[in-house]
Amino acid sequence: MAGRIPQQFIDELITRVDIVELINARVPLRKVGRNYTARCPFHDEKTPSFSVNPDKQFYHCFGCGASGTALGFLMDYDHLGFIDAVRDLASSVGMQMPQTPDAKSDAGAPAINHSKDLYELLDQAAVFYKRQLREHTQAPRAIDYLKGRGLSGDISRDFDIGYAPPGWDNLLRAFNAQANPALQAQLAEAGLVIEKGEKDSGGYYDRFRDRIMFPIRDARGRVMGFGGRVLGADELPKYLNSPETPVFHKGRELYGLYEARKAVRQLERLLVVEGYMDTVALAQFGIRYGVATLGTAITRDHLEKVFRVVPEVVFCFDGDRAGREAAWRAVQNALPLMREGRQARFMFLPDGEDPDTLIRKEGQAGFEARIENAVPLSTFFYNQLTKQVDTLSIDGRARLVELAKPLLSNVPEGVFRHMMLERLAEITRRDVAVVTQEVTGVAPVAARRVGRRRVAAVAHAAGRSPVRIAIEILLYQPALAQQARDFQALAQLDVAGIGLLVQLLELLQARPHLNTAALLEHWRDTQEGKYLAKLAQWQPEVPEGVEAELQGALRRLAEQYQQQRVENLLHTERLEGLNDLEKAELRRLLSSSAAKKTVE
Ligand code: UTP
Ligand code: MN
Repeated sequence: MAGRIPQQFIDELITRVDIVELINARVPLRKVGRNYTARCPFHDEKTPSFSVNPDKQFYHCFGCGASGTALGFLMDYDHLGFIDAVRDLASSVGMQMPQTPDAKSDAGAPAINHSKDLYELLDQAAVFYKRQLREHTQAPRAIDYLKGRGLSGDISRDFDIGYAPPGWDNLLRAFNAQANPALQAQLAEAGLVIEKGEKDSGGYYDRFRDRIMFPIRDARGRVMGFGGRVLGADELPKYLNSPETPVFHKGRELYGLYEARKAVRQLERLLVVEGYMDTVALAQFGIRYGVATLGTAITRDHLEKVFRVVPEVVFCFDGDRAGREAAWRAVQNALPLMREGRQARFMFLPDGEDPDTLIRKEGQAGFEARIENAVPLSTFFYNQLTKQVDTLSIDGRARLVELAKPLLSNVPEGVFRHMMLERLAEITRRDVAVVTQEVTGVAPVAARRVGRRRVAAVAHAAGRSPVRIAIEILLYQPALAQQARDFQALAQLDVAGIGLLVQLLELLQARPHLNTAALLEHWRDTQEGKYLAKLAQWQPEVPEGVEAELQGALRRLAEQYQQQRVENLLHTERLEGLNDLEKAELRRLLSSSAAKKTVE
């Protein structure tokens, strides 16, 4: 997707935008020295650890590790996709979104404006279905059904519940699409109508017929798709969902997320349930933070969405075996996301109940008491694992470590991981340092008997490679790239990260005005981008020293390259001899002092 907007446009956009202004409009900032701070909007905290750097045009939270550019902030805070964030940001500084020339012809991926058309159609469809619930001659059947399920008129309105009447072409006719093949094709792309087979002589028919319609909205409230429930007990499928479309991806979306954010000013947690009716019933009884997956298991995408909105998630599962298995999948997906300040808990329902039936019996207070009793991820995790081994035997405990290892090694470093490891040590009656070493391959800081500060200082002085130092300095002060000379050959150097450094230097020399944020945008959604975002947080102790430090780092790399080249030439010489050019190069290299040192 990112490729559809020219990088030059992003460069320009990021250099025009002021991240301080952008964030301040949403989260009031306070100036402290060069930077601005606030309590982090992405996790719960009492003292501010969220910092915005106007020079780098970059924000970073020392508490939860969230970081990014203006564009990244907009995506995370306003819950926008990349293209929407670019559009919003562009319009805020009066820039026109570029028209991508290949957009219309590329059927596989829709163009920006084209998606907008789909949203419009979906929105109109939602309005149509809603009106049918009031006006259609068959509407009383639908209303009776909803009443029979105990739904109030208010809640049905809050969720914009509608009705798709019986018949094959109600929607087509409402759109006046019968004689408009282009519109029919678009409706099909939006998932609202289906193309008939060849033998039926072509044409389209309504996908949703005689169903209660639940519009599914994205974080901005735009309708992306629908779920439609049959009125009768024995028709199949019970729920029909929109198919995958350019704007709807079942495995990523959560029903009710928009409605929850709208209803609760300061959302603190989300309750993840299974069904549309569960979300709606919970809301009706005052639990307005229920969201439902759309008939799929909980995915990593779901959880990323959830944690962008709230620090705590409670999963609600059936109490049966299938429920436990689903919960375990949620555990696997949640572990890699368990950063500081985030919490996940699990609740299991009595047999034969779902949130819809249970809250009608127990009311808000009863149901919320269950939520309060939900077990923490750590408890559920070790309960499940210890069921599989005999913790009384040495073998069993060793096996437990083996089972936990692949799962825990995915957990980001931090308090949560440390606590999980402590618990593992406790259960297996081992030393926490040893367990940590086994699971993560790294001894914990405490075991090395050095304070955090000390570790940081040591890492800065000696631990960093010249590549890392150079990248950090370039991200800190991109203008320094102009001083680098003859660095292209370094790309052949056999050290980690060198390719990225050379690319950075090339890019900065070609586009000298890029700031840190604009640089980072060049590596959006890549592994390198994550690495760069991390290094972008670096601040020098003494700002005056960075220029010399960069030169020093580049010089050391040049020396390493010379050494490597000398070694290669000597190797070739031994094997097959050198040609005249190579001999001259070797002589030249050997006369430079750095290279000599290694061969002597
Ligand atoms: P359930 O079968 O548990 O339904 O499906 P429910 O939510 O309790 O529905 P009611 O109470 O009978 O109305 C849970 C979820 O699984 C998806 C839907 O998202 C549903 O809300 N599902 C279920 C489908 O997508 N298709 C189906 O045929 C059934
Ligand atoms: Mn149900």
